[in-house]
Amino acid sequence: VTAAPTNATRPLAPTPTRAASSNPDEFEPSPERCRRKHSAKWHRVPDDVLPAWLAETDFDLCPAVAEAIAQAVARGDVGYPDWLAEPLAGAFSERMATRYGWRPDPSNVRHVSDLIQAMQVVTELWTTRGDGVVLQVPNYPPFLDALDNMGRRPIPCPMLPSGDTWTFDVDRLEEDVARTRAKLFLLVNPHNPTGRVLAREELEQIASLAERHDLVVLSDELHAELAYPGHLHIPFASLGEDVERRTVTITSATKSFNLGGLRTALAHIGDERVRAAWDRLPSELLGSVNVLGVDATLAAWRDGNGWLERQCAHLHAMRDRLVTKIGELPGLELRAPQATYLAWLDCRGARVGDEPAAFFRRRARVELLPGTMFGPGGAGHVRLNFGTGARILDEIVDRMAASLRG
Ligand SMILES: Cc1ncc(COP(=O)(O)O)c(C=O)c1O
Repeated sequence: VTAAPTNATRPLAPTPTRAASSNPDEFEPSPERCRRKHSAKWHRVPDDVLPAWLAETDFDLCPAVAEAIAQAVARGDVGYPDWLAEPLAGAFSERMATRYGWRPDPSNVRHVSDLIQAMQVVTELWTTRGDGVVLQVPNYPPFLDALDNMGRRPIPCPMLPSGDTWTFDVDRLEEDVARTRAKLFLLVNPHNPTGRVLAREELEQIASLAERHDLVVLSDELHAELAYPGHLHIPFASLGEDVERRTVTITSATKSFNLGGLRTALAHIGDERVRAAWDRLPSELLGSVNVLGVDATLAAWRDGNGWLERQCAHLHAMRDRLVTKIGELPGLELRAPQATYLAWLDCRGARVGDEPAAFFRRRARVELLPGTMFGPGGAGHVRLNFGTGARILDEIVDRMAASLRG
């Protein structure tokens, strides 16, 4: 396996000046405050357990987002919304243009409540039971479950360790796609759980494979805005007009601004065959987005850049802190994620038994996600969420270190 390439570092748009925050504890949440939220991350674990399992952060809301939600509430604006036009389409197109130099056609945008819904709708429309769907493994557990529930055949594209990061074997992929006559490629980039940001040449290899085998590419780019310096995200559909015409891009502000509970996301459907089938569905089947989610997303994209930049700087520091500390622990291995606040820990060299997540829950009182949930390649691994403050992260790693000492 050859070394994985990386993308150029310089973002297209000039980086907005980082508006200073008056709150020094902006990214230092308190466990007591976190436990008072309804969020499953803290709710589902006993009080003596520190949660690092579910993919959400512990920070307070971006102030611009909080303000937009407060204004909607003050207006009492939570009746049935009348979306005369797609509410996120223009802002999405504008954001892609300023961040990535790709100006998607707003008329190809459709709203959804979350990315799993979009993934299931596209899978339902473009494939039938028994059809092959390519996906990287390990992968986000609900995608694996959805394929299973829908009777689609997962065609795994294994993420392979390569130096200090991950890559995949494009020749093997080509053979598997040809042999199975797969119809859809579910691409998660940046990748959950490894945090890999695919380089342009890798995306181009996938694009030409998709062209040769008439694959629709469903590109989940949810973690794009959480890419670290040196790893510029490239939207798959931005590779060219032909590529855009067979791509459905799915995204939202839920990871970069931690809005998962607001159920507001979108699909940009560049493929007109999929778009036509989508538009034939009864709108009630797809549901609708809501005022709080739409206003929050628009405010995040319009006024949240300074906060997002501060959050990324904090997450970058947490990533480096974690990589250093994990490097000191016997038998644990971590390839630094290039994006996301998720760390994919290889525990196979540590004496933690066959179920490392169960070991750390029992012995460290830390809740992680078991690697086995992520499909092939997941055994012996755990996923650790470092989207928290330095104090909580230190406590998590110190507890894990103590549990390994016996
Ligand atoms: C790669 C990926 N896709 C989709 C989702 C689902 O996100 P949401 O429910 O906010 O749409 C997640 C959440 O962790 C994710 O990591």
